[in-house]
Amino acid sequence: MAFPKDRMRRLRSSDAMRRLVRKTYLSVNDFVYPLFVRKGNGVKESIKSMTGCYRFSPDTIADEAKEIAMLGIPAVLLFGMADEKDDIGSEAWAEDGAVQQAIREIKTNVPDLLVVTDVCLCAYTDSGHCGVVKNGRIDNDSSCELLAKAALSHAQAGADMVAPSDMMDGRVKFIRETLEKNGFCDTAIMAYSAKYASAFYGPFRDVADSAPSFGDRKSYQMDPANSDEAMAEIALDIEEGADIVMVKPALCFLDILQRAKQRFDCPVAAYNVSGEYMMLNAAAEKGLLEKETAMMEMLCSIKRAGADIIITYFAKEAAKLLR
Ligand code: PBG
Repeated sequence: MAFPKDRMRRLRSSDAMRRLVRKTYLSVNDFVYPLFVRKGNGVKESIKSMTGCYRFSPDTIADEAKEIAMLGIPAVLLFGMADEKDDIGSEAWAEDGAVQQAIREIKTNVPDLLVVTDVCLCAYTDSGHCGVVKNGRIDNDSSCELLAKAALSHAQAGADMVAPSDMMDGRVKFIRETLEKNGFCDTAIMAYSAKYASAFYGPFRDVADSAPSFGDRKSYQMDPANSDEAMAEIALDIEEGADIVMVKPALCFLDILQRAKQRFDCPVAAYNVSGEYMMLNAAAEKGLLEKETAMMEMLCSIKRAGADIIITYFAKEAAKLLR
C-alpha cells in the first residue's frame, strides 16, 4: 500500500523543487534556424503562409545571420528559391545561385555561424519533384548524380554541412563520394533519413513554390504508417556516410525519434516543420492557447523524445526566452 507513504506531489510542491528534479532542459545549442533565400537585391519580404518568416536576398542575409549568431543559435539551414526552373533543376548547382551566394555572404560576415544547406531539386525542377522525371516516374540514380552536384556547389561556396532532403536511394553515398573526390572531406552530411510523406509541409511548399505539379511524393517519401522502415532508412544513411540523421516531421513522429535515439549512436535531428509551426501560430492568433508556453512545451517534447538537434522556425523566439 504505497499511499500515504508515496505522494508524487511532494516533488512538485514549489518552483525550486520542480527545477531540482527536472530531467529535460532545452538549450539554444539545440537549435537550427531555417532561412529562405532568393536572388535579387535588398529583399526581405514577409511570407504570408508562415508568420514571422522572410525571404532574403543574398545581400540582406548577413544582417539576419548576425542577429541569429548573437542569440547564440549555432546553425542556420538555407533553402533556395529558383529564378528559372527546368526539367533537371540546373539552378540547384549554379555557382551564382541564391543559396551559393548566401553561403558566401554568411561565411564572410559571420564566419562562426554554421551554414547547413538543404539539398534537393524540388524548388528548381519545373515538375516540382525532388528528382528528375523520366517517363512519368522519378528516376532515382540520375537524380542522385544531380543532387551530388548541388551538394558539391554548396561545399565549394563554403557550406559547413549539406542536408539532402530528397529521399532518393543512395544519395548520401553519391554525395559523400563526390565531396571526398573533390577534397571536401570535412563537409558534414545531415541526412533527412526518415522523411515522411506528410501533410504538415503545406505552408513550406507555398514559400518555396515547390509543390509537385503532378502526383505526390509518396513514391519516395515514407508512409507515415511505418516505423521499422525508418530504422532501415537511417541505418543505410549512416552506412553511406551520414554524420547526422534526421526524423521529419517531429510531432507526429516522436515515437520514431525515440526509437532512432535508442538505436543509433550518431546525433539525431528532428525537423519541427512548417505545418507544426503554423498550427501553433494559428491557434495562438485565435487566442486559443498561450503561445510561448505551448511553444516551449512542443520543443521540450521533441528533446525529451530523443532529439539532439531541433530544426525549428521557433528558434529565435525560443532562444530569447532561454536567455
Ligand atoms: C524539400 C523540403 C521540404 C521541406 C524541407 N525540404 C518540402 C517537401 O518535402 O515537400 C519541408 C519543410 C517544412 O515543411 O518546414 N524537399
